[in-house]
Amino acid sequence: MHIPVVIIGGGPSGLLLGQLLHKRGIEAVVLERKTRDYVLSRIRAGVLETGLVRLMEEAGVAERLHREGYVHDGTQIAANGEMFHIDFKKLTGTPILVYGQTEVTHDLYDAREASGARTEFEVDHVEIHGADTDKPYVTYRQNGNGHRIDCDFIAGCDGFHGVSRQTIPLSVRREYEKTYPFGWLGILSRTPPVHDELIYANSERGFALCSMRSASLSRYYIQCALSDHPEDWTDAAFWDELKRRLPADVAERLVTGPSIEKSIAPLRSFVTEPMRWGRLFLCGDAAHIVPPTGAKGLNTAASDVQYLYQGLCQFYEEGDSEGIDRYSERALLRVWKAERFSWWFSGLLHRYPDQSPFDLKMQQADIAFLRDNEAQQRAFAENYVGLPY
Ligand code: APR
Ligand code: PHB
Repeated sequence: MHIPVVIIGGGPSGLLLGQLLHKRGIEAVVLERKTRDYVLSRIRAGVLETGLVRLMEEAGVAERLHREGYVHDGTQIAANGEMFHIDFKKLTGTPILVYGQTEVTHDLYDAREASGARTEFEVDHVEIHGADTDKPYVTYRQNGNGHRIDCDFIAGCDGFHGVSRQTIPLSVRREYEKTYPFGWLGILSRTPPVHDELIYANSERGFALCSMRSASLSRYYIQCALSDHPEDWTDAAFWDELKRRLPADVAERLVTGPSIEKSIAPLRSFVTEPMRWGRLFLCGDAAHIVPPTGAKGLNTAASDVQYLYQGLCQFYEEGDSEGIDRYSERALLRVWKAERFSWWFSGLLHRYPDQSPFDLKMQQADIAFLRDNEAQQRAFAENYVGLPY
């Protein structure tokens, strides 16, 4: 069997690419290791850049996000008992949209099912063959049976632990990584958000973030030790610690309640280069990871998808390989800027175990500069709402 594009991984990257290609009449199959319900049980960030919203519109799946998403014109930064506002709309002309990644994935699966496009779930032993030839193919097993799909191109959208990146020989692949000496303990609770914008807080007890999913569903995070376990944190201990890291008036207004989800995520910066090997293209978490500070994970996956989608359309519709030939270079240029922003923003807000008194003073000066300098606020806002692509 021959299908033009095989997409490995049915997370947001693979699904968005599949839906965009489908709209242009380019057939693609999605191979997903887990079930749809499993993929939809993952809780991730919930901030969408305009670029991603535009792609969702182009894919014909933006109706619910426009109806249920929350437009935020700015964000709040808290430090030293105070809080200041960064006005994205005034500084860049662009807001962001608060809408959960889980909902994005949900909408993409619904659209994929409605369009009749093929998705194979619970596949294993996915292997990529001949990616450096002009006759690549993918083999996999499903329900104990072996399958083979011949194709023109393979999109490796299978996340950090997938097979696609590993298929690129070590002699061509270069990886860059930074791990952080802390994690984020996050909870979801059926309580109204404490503020109508997100609050990113630097405190001497460590970072905290107040986020939301809706008017009655809140998402909060606190920096924690990597050795902590979610079950060691009672809800009361979490709320208590969160309050201590927020300005007093915000802490006073915080509505607490039972958590409906509690988990710890480590923080990592990671990039692999190149993002293309022959007819294999890496997209999203398969090629890069950012720490969640600034919510760039899904949004950076979206710019990869856009570059690959354009390259494939150019190839199939105009017979021109320029877009796919320059895919890795274009994608990486934007990836590294998102890596820089999320690394810098993480450094601005967290407590590091080895921070010297001098380092702390630098952090405080960096926050004061952001509070007081409009050019710095504009640079922040341009990064937060998403650099152009
Ligand atoms: N074969 C098939 N599917 C696989 C394989 C494999 N060998 N390995 C992994 N997968 C599937 C995973 O089960 C998952 O559903 O690939 C999918 C990858 O999805 P994500 O990890 O969500 O990655 P991606 O789609 O690139 O999403 C971008 O943005 O906010 C960030 O990290 C967050 O997931 C988010 C990412
Ligand atoms: C979230 O809502 O989960 C979220 C929001 C912003 C971030 C990270 C996570 O920077």
